[in-house]
Amino acid sequence: MQSDLVCFNPACRARFSITDVLYNCPKCGGLLEAQYDFGHPDPNALKRSWRERRLSNEPLCQSGVWRYREMFPFLDDERHVITLREGNTPLLEGPRAAEYGGLSRITFKHQGFNPTGSFKDNGMTCGAAQARRLGMKRVACVSTGNTSASMAAYASAGGLEPLIFIPHGNISYGKLAQALEYGAKTYQVEANFDQILALVRVLAERLGIYLLNSINPFRIEGQKSIAIEMMDQRDWRVPDWVVLPGGNLGNVSALGKGFREMRELGLIDRLPRLAVVQAEGASPFFQYMQAKGRTAFRARENPETLATAIRIGDPVSWPKAQFEVETSDGVVESVTEQEIADAKAIIGQCGIGCEPASAATLAGIRKLTAAGVMGKSADVVAVLTGNVLKDPDYIYRYHTDQLKAPDGTPIKANFGNRPVVVPNDADRIAELIR
Ligand code: F0G
Repeated sequence: MQSDLVCFNPACRARFSITDVLYNCPKCGGLLEAQYDFGHPDPNALKRSWRERRLSNEPLCQSGVWRYREMFPFLDDERHVITLREGNTPLLEGPRAAEYGGLSRITFKHQGFNPTGSFKDNGMTCGAAQARRLGMKRVACVSTGNTSASMAAYASAGGLEPLIFIPHGNISYGKLAQALEYGAKTYQVEANFDQILALVRVLAERLGIYLLNSINPFRIEGQKSIAIEMMDQRDWRVPDWVVLPGGNLGNVSALGKGFREMRELGLIDRLPRLAVVQAEGASPFFQYMQAKGRTAFRARENPETLATAIRIGDPVSWPKAQFEVETSDGVVESVTEQEIADAKAIIGQCGIGCEPASAATLAGIRKLTAAGVMGKSADVVAVLTGNVLKDPDYIYRYHTDQLKAPDGTPIKANFGNRPVVVPNDADRIAELIR
């Protein structure tokens, strides 16, 4: 099947070989995307075959990404694939969260059930496969934590050398620990995410290292599977809204592309509206989309949020994200530190849990229903992007009333659940429990 890298800039649309090592268009500097000549496959045959693969013990069929490989046919040889059985993440109901968000019902697509605990695995299995196909030896990324954990795992599993660059002091220990345990060379740089991305791009070019940030179009291809698996699990009933947190804006680009391609192939009949939620202190995309005319994208120089996963001031994929939000008649919202913390505790009370960035979804939903943008009876899927154990420090501080916003403002433990210190005395404890 014909596949190409194509410039995303509508004024350029230059085409390149799928095996060119490119992250931006050499002609205009625009973002690149993978494009295929899908032909006219029978949508029902595809759906049937994807269901049947769930019964197979073949590694590629067990992967909740590669099961849907017809939707991203960029590889020439499946032997390049490294799978840790990524994807296969559940749809979970959260009645308490629905009530809090002003909805009758809510469904969470919980990407925290992935092998390294975040949605990055969906994309990383594809990026790592492309790295192996290109004969790369070393792979690199800058990360707020989850990309690095995922890249470390997939690179090590696939015999590639992972090099990780992270903002010093600004990623959670859970994520840093993963990178170390999975054997990545880890560099803690005294700079923020956006500055380090520029640095890593120079190093990648100079040393011939393959870059696995979400600017890599193959990462985006893999993350499309989040949308495809979601539809498969819903028997192809399209929700009214899909809500996700926005950082570097790769994920909204991926899900948007996934839904559009599913519609083009006749797998679904309409697009869900996309809602992207940013943390107020790191919300350049929200600011841009609010502005009249949407003419100049302005990066935020010193982004701040305790949801460190989305602490990004200059998101590279904003043009794709803008296209996907506009095409789906979507919206962009921003939420405060307090709103994120409380929404996170509510998701925890559902027995589900997630990391702070993921909880921006529910916080955003609560605002969107209050504003009448999202109807109470809307069919809403919120994507929880990371596992609850990614950032235990945040959780402990919230529940013990010690959490402070980056500017020092105390965050109230409105749904706090403080541990109780008790003597080693059955009578006294029984009294307390009563
Ligand atoms: N949620 C979590 C848990 C994340 O780790 C990220 C991004 C996002 C949301 C935002 O997704 O960037 O596609 O808009 N984390 C990246 C990282 C930047 O380095 O792990 P996005």
